[in-house]
Amino acid sequence: MSTTAVTLPDTLVHPFAPAGRRDPYPAYRWLQTHAPVHHDPFSGMWLVTGHAACSALLRDARFSAALGQRERARDDRLPVSMLTTDPPDHQRLRAPGGLLLGPAALRSITDGLSQDVDAVLDALARRRDEPDAIRDLGTPLATAVFGRLFGLPAHEHPAFTTLARAASVNLDPMTPPALAARGRLAAGALTRYLDAHARGLKARGDTSAPLAALADDDRLERGEMLGILSLAVIGGWQPLAETVGNGLLWLLPHAATVRRQLVEDPEFARSCVDELLRLEAPIPFAARVATEAVDLPGGSVPAGARVLAVIAAANRDPAVFSDPDLLVPDRRPNPHLAFGAGAHFCLAAALVRQVLPTLLARLLARFPELRGPDVPPAWEPTLVPRRLTAYPLRLGPSGPPTGPTTSEGN
Ligand code: HEM
Repeated sequence: MSTTAVTLPDTLVHPFAPAGRRDPYPAYRWLQTHAPVHHDPFSGMWLVTGHAACSALLRDARFSAALGQRERARDDRLPVSMLTTDPPDHQRLRAPGGLLLGPAALRSITDGLSQDVDAVLDALARRRDEPDAIRDLGTPLATAVFGRLFGLPAHEHPAFTTLARAASVNLDPMTPPALAARGRLAAGALTRYLDAHARGLKARGDTSAPLAALADDDRLERGEMLGILSLAVIGGWQPLAETVGNGLLWLLPHAATVRRQLVEDPEFARSCVDELLRLEAPIPFAARVATEAVDLPGGSVPAGARVLAVIAAANRDPAVFSDPDLLVPDRRPNPHLAFGAGAHFCLAAALVRQVLPTLLARLLARFPELRGPDVPPAWEPTLVPRRLTAYPLRLGPSGPPTGPTTSEGN
């Protein structure tokens, strides 16, 4: 199929312009309708916005993730990791990555994570100032998750949080150059910190955390092992932390019935988390380069094309999702692409699907009157991850909350 050259109408803000980054969805919908495979003159990249096309390209080995990372808007010199490699190297790195994030690793930290969720909620209840979903829920939860995976004692959590936050600017291809340079330094500091920590565990004979098994795996060189660790932090810490605020924005305006179901029915809670990830994909794009000309559903791209699978657009494609802009908490099936698809599918999807439903269910059980802010919160003008500037919480009863629309008109 040929691809017609079209431009966004003047009435729509480009999704990468500052205002468009805050609300990219109108432009995405227009592209989906008029040019689902679109050469974007603003970025020089091909934006693939249709669900069928995104899903196909993420599963298609003719699109290189290694080149896609290298071709990002700036060279962030991330360490080699599974996300910056293609087969056969990719599989060689991903298989040991299972020692950190696979089912056995997850089972080994499940009880600890359950305690961590309660500890995060205890600390929330103790706050004397106005609590914030990102600062007081998402951030400590994400750090606790990595604390369990890496075997970090509680007194290391503040140092790890500082490093993880500083290194996370590497996620966003639009980061201004000066900040990006600081982010690269932070990524180096994070890698050295993790290296020293892994050596410390080894020296103490501490094999309790999943990190110990990964660090001991002789299929990996030291740099490759550290590359997996820093990819996990840079790719996972902030998206996990921010998903809590993004999710509560959609969830809190819901009727009490939905809250009750979320608290009482773990299956419902899991569906609900998937739906929240669909609506606000924290990682809205996956970057690839076409190694040859490829026909996709809705258009074709030439060899060498720099392509963005626009996950955030695909997740609201009306051809696949009815009421795509509404929260349907028990949506089934829900073939969203928030965790990617194909060879690079998020290695931590099961972990995220375990910890977030637990957090939300216990949060709402403990604070049944939990409310968000009265005024709509602002989105950061970042591309990756999609995140709110803040999401203040009120733990007790008060006035009506403000938030996006649900399928039930609540
Ligand atoms: C809500 C939170 C998260 C979301 C939405 C998310 C999403 C994603 C997406 C979209 C990809 C694929 C990127 C691509 O194909 O270019 C990915 C890959 C990956 N994610 Fe996550 N992620 C999350 C949390 C995490 C966490 C907490 C970790 C680690 C503890 C993690 C580890 C990884 C790894 C290692 C990969 C690379 C897999 C590969 O290349 O084979 N993610 N994630």
